Amino acid sequence: MKTLDDLLGEGVSGRRVFVRADLNVPFDKNIPQGNAPVISDDGRARAVLPTLIALRDAGARVIVASHLGRPKGAPDPKYTLAPVAARLGELLGSSVVFAGDTVGPSAAAAVEDLQDGQVLLLENLRFNAGETSKDDAERGAFADQLAAFADYYVDDAFGAVHRKHASVHDVPARLPHYAGGLVLKEVEVLKKVSESPEQPYVVVLGGSKVSDKLAVIQALLPKVDKLLVGGGMCFTFLKAQGHEVGKSLLEAEMIDTCRSLLEQADGRIVLPVDVVAATEFSADADHSVVDIAEIPADRLGLDIGPKSVAIFAEAIGSAKTVFWNGPMGVFELAPFAAGTRGVAEAITKIDGFSVVGGGDSAAAVRTLGLDESAFGHISTGGGASLEYLEGKTLPGVAALEK
Ligand code: 3PG
Ligand code: MG
Repeated sequence: MKTLDDLLGEGVSGRRVFVRADLNVPFDKNIPQGNAPVISDDGRARAVLPTLIALRDAGARVIVASHLGRPKGAPDPKYTLAPVAARLGELLGSSVVFAGDTVGPSAAAAVEDLQDGQVLLLENLRFNAGETSKDDAERGAFADQLAAFADYYVDDAFGAVHRKHASVHDVPARLPHYAGGLVLKEVEVLKKVSESPEQPYVVVLGGSKVSDKLAVIQALLPKVDKLLVGGGMCFTFLKAQGHEVGKSLLEAEMIDTCRSLLEQADGRIVLPVDVVAATEFSADADHSVVDIAEIPADRLGLDIGPKSVAIFAEAIGSAKTVFWNGPMGVFELAPFAAGTRGVAEAITKIDGFSVVGGGDSAAAVRTLGLDESAFGHISTGGGASLEYLEGKTLPGVAALEK
């Protein structure tokens, strides 16, 4: 696999370099519609800066492309990358040209006008049906348009390497391609954690759905000493143990699967013993800590409780390797943030190596104001890091290896 350093060594001054980045940043959900959107966590934009700066400073004409959210293959102002271009410019300390489309006349003109050492951001890749199409020819046609803009391709979008999308999988087949530093670092860390984790190895999983995490649970169970489960997904496990969970999130069709995982795990899956139960999904909702045997029928659990945090923290404290993916509760709402905060703080204190697996958990670390440097590695890819740990081939990484 060729790397960005190889490309820089070849010399890029005056050359057009297409950089696939993952600038799929979260926005503050509390800003009323009609107001300017506010990026709530720019961690993903910061993570790709070293690559952009290196190319810019080497005199390349840098064409950056990303997706944002999940628009349906056509322009949708809700998902414009315009605010991200502005933030990227602030972070780079140099202006970023923004194209009003991805491969249309605006993009073509901006690419044409691009000067040495300038950075251009194209509009959301997913405004084009070809980006995510399952049809090879449709994806290929879009990839042809993107590839025509540049001399070289650099993938530094670790968060999207698990997607067989045109900009991830098909453009590198059309241009000399290189792995960016972020992709290299992420793969190196995940390889270490999945192939040779120092024991004890404790995995903490949260988030809303068991079905999303089933494959990774199955892949990790034989390797871990403890698997701590919180977040919305814990309620399906609790139900499988015979508890009533009130109005909490429940995947009824996964109850049997959870029961068999619990049997298979032989005590290594650790569930909460108490939760914060609320009358509704709202920061103002009436709420209290209850034992898991006493979740009221008309309430829903929105965080793990303090006894659970203590149990999880003790397990984490004994670990030499911790992998964490998924918040323990609705951390965006202050009354339900303590579980995620408690677990995250416990992870910062281990005498070992910790990995925060992307997405919401990485955003939680920063939103809760925790010290990022206290973690071994904070991934920019939620789905991507889970799929890596599942042992799947990642189309974006495979494309760079070809
Ligand atoms: C993510 O946020 O998980 C990545 O940016 C990939 O986005 P996606 O899940 O919409 O493909
Ligand atoms: Mg995702």
